[in-house]
Amino acid sequence: MSTPLGFAQSTVGRKVIMALTGLLLVGFVMGHMAGNLLVFNGPEAINGWGALLKRSALVLWTVRITLLVAVGLHIWAALTLTRLNQASRPVDYARRVPQASTLAARLMRIGGVLLLAFIVFHLLHLTTGTIHPGYEFSHTDVYGNVVSSFQVPWVALFYIVAMVALLGHLTHGIWSFFQTMGWSHPRLDTIRRTIATVIALMVSLGFIAIPAAILGGVLR
Ligand code: HEM
Repeated sequence: MSTPLGFAQSTVGRKVIMALTGLLLVGFVMGHMAGNLLVFNGPEAINGWGALLKRSALVLWTVRITLLVAVGLHIWAALTLTRLNQASRPVDYARRVPQASTLAARLMRIGGVLLLAFIVFHLLHLTTGTIHPGYEFSHTDVYGNVVSSFQVPWVALFYIVAMVALLGHLTHGIWSFFQTMGWSHPRLDTIRRTIATVIALMVSLGFIAIPAAILGGVLR
């Protein structure tokens, strides 16, 4: 516990790692969502943004590796904390009484797995272009890729479902971040929940607006 590695392996250390990597990932999704909304300004705006992000290979790969490490640590902390929790209760209760906290924790795990599956699909879909149902993928035409793919109903619906999972994961995750950081006074609970809900709604609805607008024919 006295060395940084010891701290990282303690329960508190793992919670802090989960909170801080979560914070970094929330920052990323907020920026990514805001950048993606440029699709409403037309092909030039979003394609220009895409080109700008790829201008420096060093910056691009630094961001990619940072995100990969953050996701890896976030999942490691979640998995090992769950295992520690289960190990501390070796004999299961004869009759389980559902608790709000255990339900939330279970939903976080299910949502987390769905989001991981979404991210793998998303990278194969809009970054590498390996999955391109019914259209030609282009590494420079972000607008074309996004609009063509969300005209396919199952792709648009899959994104919308994943963004609903993101809404739940962010709402509980941001609230938990405040708890871990020690801002947990009961008097602050309403403000903590409000901040978490507002950020989560902003991010998920911002993302959902894109497949919804394309599916509804507003963007073409
Ligand atoms: C409607 C929702 C979304 C849309 C339209 C969207 C759009 C895009 C596009 C067009 C790219 C490729 C950019 C380019 O190559 O120029 C991309 C990359 C990426 N997106 Fe999304 N995205 C969405 C949601 C998300 C979410 C929720 C996450 C994370 C949970 C995410 C994570 C990423 C990552 C990690 C990359 C790879 C960035 C890189 O090239 O390294 N996206 N997204």
